[in-house]
Amino acid sequence: MKKCLNCPVFNVVSDIAAEEQLKVYTIGGFVRDCFLERPSKDIDIVVLGDGIKLADKAAKALGIKRVSVYKNFGTAMFKYEDVKVEFVGARKESYSKDSRKPVVATGTLEDDQKRRDFTINALALSLNKDTFGELVDPFDGISDLQNKMIRTPLDPKATFSDDPLRMMRAIRFASQLKFRIGEKTYEGIEKNVQRLQIVSNERIVEEMHKIMQSPKPSIGLELLEDTGLMKEFLPEVSSLKGTEIKDRLAHKDNFYHTVQVVDNVSKMSNSLWLRWAALLHDIGKPGTKRFYKDHGWTFHGHDYLGAQMIPDLFKRLRLPLNDKMKYVQKLVALHLRPIALVENVTDSAVRRLLFDAGDDVDDLMLLCEADITSKNMKKLRQYLANFQKVRKKLREVEEKDRIRNFQPPISGEEIMRTFNIKPGKTVGIIKNAIKEAILDGEISNNYHEAYEFMIQKGKALGLEPGNINN
Ligand code: CTP
Repeated sequence: MKKCLNCPVFNVVSDIAAEEQLKVYTIGGFVRDCFLERPSKDIDIVVLGDGIKLADKAAKALGIKRVSVYKNFGTAMFKYEDVKVEFVGARKESYSKDSRKPVVATGTLEDDQKRRDFTINALALSLNKDTFGELVDPFDGISDLQNKMIRTPLDPKATFSDDPLRMMRAIRFASQLKFRIGEKTYEGIEKNVQRLQIVSNERIVEEMHKIMQSPKPSIGLELLEDTGLMKEFLPEVSSLKGTEIKDRLAHKDNFYHTVQVVDNVSKMSNSLWLRWAALLHDIGKPGTKRFYKDHGWTFHGHDYLGAQMIPDLFKRLRLPLNDKMKYVQKLVALHLRPIALVENVTDSAVRRLLFDAGDDVDDLMLLCEADITSKNMKKLRQYLANFQKVRKKLREVEEKDRIRNFQPPISGEEIMRTFNIKPGKTVGIIKNAIKEAILDGEISNNYHEAYEFMIQKGKALGLEPGNINN
């Protein structure tokens, strides 16, 4: 018997099913993950009969008080320790053409398996006493698991038109599990990409997050682009694809560069939002692309334009409009700054970078290092070695000047008190001059030097300590 059926929920359900003479199975992602030996905290149980009733009885037997019932869908769910257990009656289900609202009728186990997205997600294990643990697999999902293959159980057209999000799911599983998508299923996606328009952005983004969190996100990102799905929901990334040649000069394909950058950051960090920043770091390039006879291709200002594009993109995709958006926007805006230091790494430039990036400077450095891609290995090594010099300088300056979370050593209050002036423009001018002097290295980041500087600056503006001037 499979080890993953050890959870007490299965025995309890099996006993109740025997008493009630019901056929019952565990099905879907749990069974797939069981064969793949991946941990799973989501159990789906399908019963030929009333799923809600079975959930109630199982909950009672397990001493669980709270059962969430979704009458409209005929499903019920409870939590057993940290495992989510969902019950549903076996059903035939189809969707009307323009909506996600299913028309549901009771069905056999095979009907239920048929309506699922992929053969590997249609596997069922029996929980019935006489066949406990036996696999029920009418679409040979087990071979697909062994061959690392994503295939729909029915004609892909039917499966994808039932729920077009499944096209994203196919790619998500391919990316997460490093599986291939079967030929017919792949063609089915290509033919139906436009159907993604009826899917909500929230659901699309949920799959996108999973693609981004997979070990090598480029697998999913390239599939999204190649099938045509990317253009449907993220045209900004799609338009990075392609090269142009003028006067025998070609620029690099920014799409393939971008996905390589995403892979590079993914090797160094699990942060979802750093990966998003990597995906979006060059979206300003198509809008800033120029060709100059003497310079070749340039993308001047793509960092600035890219950062400007972030809020609308986040809003449209219903990504969080809070500090996550600000973080991504900041990284896109600053992504060229560390590499620019390779040429001329002065203390003051490093201090300014620390000031502008604040707490996100480590992630910015990761992104920037990941952004160094070149097919020329000699050039790549040289660049990466130079970048290490920038990192070293950053550590030195940070240790010395503590700029990362810069708090002005002299407050506006103190400036007003010292010169006996009211709030106004002058206070801001002095405060800013102190900050600039610290960042330029004219004075150190400490109270004493900042105080002296304030007095001098005030005097230059015609103020005297204690003056009643304004
Ligand atoms: N399913 C489906 N079509 C969908 C979503 C889900 O057919 N659009 C079915 C699949 O059989 C799937 C099961 O419902 O295995 C459970 O779905 P879900 O929990 O969303 O996904 P999992 O396959 O379990 O994968 P994960 O937990 O990684 O999201």
